[in-house]
Amino acid sequence: MRESAVKMDNKVNKTFFIRTFGCQMNVADAGEYAQHLQNFGLLPTEDLNDAKVVLLNTCTVRQHAEDRALSFLGQLKKLKMKNEKLKIIVAGCVAQRLGEDLKRRFPHIDLVIGAKDIDLFPQILTERLKDFQEPEGSTPYRSTNLSTYQPMNLSTDVTAFVTIMRGCENFCSYCIVPYVRGKEKSRPVEEIISEINCLIKQGVKEVTLLGQNVNSYKLQITNYKLQIGFADLLTEVNKIERLERIRFVTSHPKDLSEKIIFAIRDLDKVCEHLHLPVQAGSNRILEKMNRKYTREGYLSLVAKIKDTIPEIAITTDIIVGFPGETEEDFQDTLDLVREVEFDSAYTFKYSPRPGTAGAKLDDDVPLEVKEERLKILNQTCNEISQKKNQKLIGTKQEVLIEKNVKQAGKLEGRTRTNKIVFIQSRKNLVGKKVEVKIIEAYPHSLFGKIKQKGEKNENTT
Ligand code: 5AD
Ligand code: SF4
Repeated sequence: MRESAVKMDNKVNKTFFIRTFGCQMNVADAGEYAQHLQNFGLLPTEDLNDAKVVLLNTCTVRQHAEDRALSFLGQLKKLKMKNEKLKIIVAGCVAQRLGEDLKRRFPHIDLVIGAKDIDLFPQILTERLKDFQEPEGSTPYRSTNLSTYQPMNLSTDVTAFVTIMRGCENFCSYCIVPYVRGKEKSRPVEEIISEINCLIKQGVKEVTLLGQNVNSYKLQITNYKLQIGFADLLTEVNKIERLERIRFVTSHPKDLSEKIIFAIRDLDKVCEHLHLPVQAGSNRILEKMNRKYTREGYLSLVAKIKDTIPEIAITTDIIVGFPGETEEDFQDTLDLVREVEFDSAYTFKYSPRPGTAGAKLDDDVPLEVKEERLKILNQTCNEISQKKNQKLIGTKQEVLIEKNVKQAGKLEGRTRTNKIVFIQSRKNLVGKKVEVKIIEAYPHSLFGKIKQKGEKNENTT
């Protein structure tokens, strides 16, 4: 913790608990909220019952995610009844969507702060919660004084998320993100690099650069009439000493340029994995979704990627049951999935979101049909994942060990292609890159053996 931040109002109770729902961006935001709370002199606790401040970091991308957050919020009422001094803060995308209405529904909430206002968090805390006083000499998150900027890595993890941009202007018709996260805003390169350097000092070896659509990362250097894009950012991050691996999510297919594909191929720290959400395989549905590419366009992009980087793993997001999706449209999605052979896929039932263009369409695919399609899609995806992983048996893979699975005496890490690998070993190799021979394959993980010196390469690639 920074020295300047330890100024604390005695009235502030001393521990905070954060519960995060939703995507990796929310996980990264949680780190930012935690840092601000620490600047106010609070300490993190993992015990909800011990917390004096509870911050709920919410997601509204699908109704189910919102319901889960609201149900947790309901449970907090009991805690507040036991301890009136407990401060309950609701942040994130539900907070942005419902705003002060949330307080009317849940009067035990002390503060609602929308996702768009994350930069103003310390200011809003001081203005609205009288227990919080501005920490003297503290540096706001978006500081220009980079030497004093210290990001907090909540745990002692080997990997960390680094937000490179916020917001989205794509307005896919099913998606609420542009409404709750606002316009695209890219963070300056120096700030990103400074954050990564701080993380490295704390033991981080791998960073995942985060944005709703990292491919549209853009910075205008007005004095030089220069524009910096995502490939340029990757090039700069790749130069960081002691950083071992770089990942990024998410990539919108319409903005994945040749320059970015070449950067993945040529930059040694950038891992061979692309998360490239396709959402649907039917042109009719893609158009209704406002995705701005066709099935053919997506397939030729994938062909170009595989041609350039043959070892790459491609993962995706798919929605079933979008308004008007016929059986034929769904078959187009299955066909595309079989053609691309995704390494893995996140699959979702369409959920209408208030205020989006999609919500104006008739949600006409019955729930049973959505569920049936989801089941078939998941089976197909799992079979493909299993088949692809099976092919890795006998190969050797570079695995960065992320944790010990203590009870089982195993190590857990990931390949450069983002596949989870378990290894039977009681050695403490966390943070180390090891060469692993794959001996078993499952749809969502691999099992391997650390290669001993002098061991012969059988079937290795
Ligand atoms: N219904 C279902 N899935 C959705 N997603 C986004 N909005 C919706 C929605 N309304 C999915 C998309 C996106 C992922 C993060 O969540 O597949 O890529
Ligand atoms: Fe939502 Fe589309 Fe933006 Fe992704 S690109 S956040 S799906 S609007």
